[in-house]
Amino acid sequence: MRRIYHLIDGREVPSHSGSYFASENPATGEQFAEVAAGDETDVDAAVKAALRAFQGPWSKITPAERGRLLYRVAELIEARAEELAAAETLDSGKPLAANRHIDLPFCVDFWRFYAGAADKLRTPVVANEPGVHRYAVREPLGVVGAIAPWNFPLVMASLKIAPALAAGNTVVIKMAEQTPLTTSLLGQLCLEAGLPEGVVNVVHGFGERAGAALVRHPQVAKICFTGSTEVGRLIGQECARQVKPFLLELGGKAANIIFADADLDLAVNGALQAGLANNGQFCLAASRVLVEERVADRVTELLIDKARSIRVGEPHDPATHCGPLISRAHLERVSSYVASGCAEGAELLTGGAPPRDLPERLRRGFYFAPTVFGRVRPQMRIAREEIFGPVIGITSFRTEEEAIALANGVDYGLSAYFWTKDADRVHRVASALDAGLVFVNMPQYMVPQMPAGLRKSSGWGQNFGLEALENYTKLKGVYVNYSGKIFPWLT
Ligand code: NAI
Ligand code: MG
Repeated sequence: MRRIYHLIDGREVPSHSGSYFASENPATGEQFAEVAAGDETDVDAAVKAALRAFQGPWSKITPAERGRLLYRVAELIEARAEELAAAETLDSGKPLAANRHIDLPFCVDFWRFYAGAADKLRTPVVANEPGVHRYAVREPLGVVGAIAPWNFPLVMASLKIAPALAAGNTVVIKMAEQTPLTTSLLGQLCLEAGLPEGVVNVVHGFGERAGAALVRHPQVAKICFTGSTEVGRLIGQECARQVKPFLLELGGKAANIIFADADLDLAVNGALQAGLANNGQFCLAASRVLVEERVADRVTELLIDKARSIRVGEPHDPATHCGPLISRAHLERVSSYVASGCAEGAELLTGGAPPRDLPERLRRGFYFAPTVFGRVRPQMRIAREEIFGPVIGITSFRTEEEAIALANGVDYGLSAYFWTKDADRVHRVASALDAGLVFVNMPQYMVPQMPAGLRKSSGWGQNFGLEALENYTKLKGVYVNYSGKIFPWLT
């Protein structure tokens, strides 16, 4: 059986305790590897290695040289894209075509962007009075502890590691227990690119053990977390106790507002992409489709029709739109949301269960049919809580004000989408939506250059762009007196 080890101080190592856990292929339910299960001791070894690298070789090279090394990582990811895409599919069940054409190119762009950004951090020199020079500097934090989820493993690992390194930090990352494989491969590529040993360390294991140990570790300068709001709260509490900064990217419950004046075909396609791509397993997923009443019947019909044409199946098949969900446990969680929607009186229009026509060898995989609910009311659980599955619910509205109130009326504030041809409305609604990211007449799309914020229960901090670099620095203001005189006090 294949083994996946920690990567600590440039070496693959088993856990101190010698224990392993199983990694399974979600497409078939078969175990394909055993993974080192890290605990406090492994995390401590990784943090110490990261601290040595931070104080040693990593602090001695120039920002421009850091940038060249990150650029080399981008080139290696590009050169190995095929191998990485295949590994991602094996571990996560994500369709191979999506990994090849979306995730991998995004990772390459992302590393290139932060490679270029490494020597572009700027800080002000503040208007001076005679005899005093004032300037601010941004310094790296030290060891950044990253905790990442399973929905886009390689992208999530890159999102955390690349900007942290660009700003001069070293990293210990704990990838989700469901998807350890590609983060380990990425760690190896970092070494191959010439990053000193200990600059990127990977510790595998469960959240409650390895993740919590990383959060608690006193030599970890900051925690950057993506995952559930529930765990984000726990992490925030522990960080507050230590007065340790943190970045939280948590759940979402995006609305997708379709106004009657929109191009309805485009809007329906976009609503399915924003709701059901990656099986709805992403934080920007728009599981709430809000439709203006006078086009609601037509839009509902189109949504059902198109949702039925989504092909669920083997992730290697180029015709597949959606592979399996991440795990049996998650499949059960999604099923329980469908049951709650039915119990609370929503109308199940299509899907709602694993697809019936799967070939024999996929019967033990974690597949779920794209699901559409009608007559969803805002107080229902399926309209308030993050489902993270291939489930969308339709609610109709009469006025723009009502649509905005519905869209903003949840605890989350990650993203929002709307469709209209009215140019005034574009700016009016974009400004009224309480979300860190707004998409107008398009489904989800992200480029590394473009910053986004995190609001309400969706988290805290800023992502992407040069703005994200600041997450990984601390500011220092320096006052220099060059007048040769001391400031008057006792005169
Ligand atoms: P989770 O929040 O438990 O896991 C995310 C990461 O946090 C994993 O690496 C996990 O090992 C780690 N973790 C878990 N407990 C921890 C702890 N006490 N201390 C430190 N690290 C810990 O999310 P899970 O269980 O995978 O999924 C549950 C739900 O969370 C999903 O159904 C979805 O609604 C939401 N979620 C949201 C994500 C997003 O991108 N916003 C990503 C993953 C999950
Ligand atoms: Mg969990």
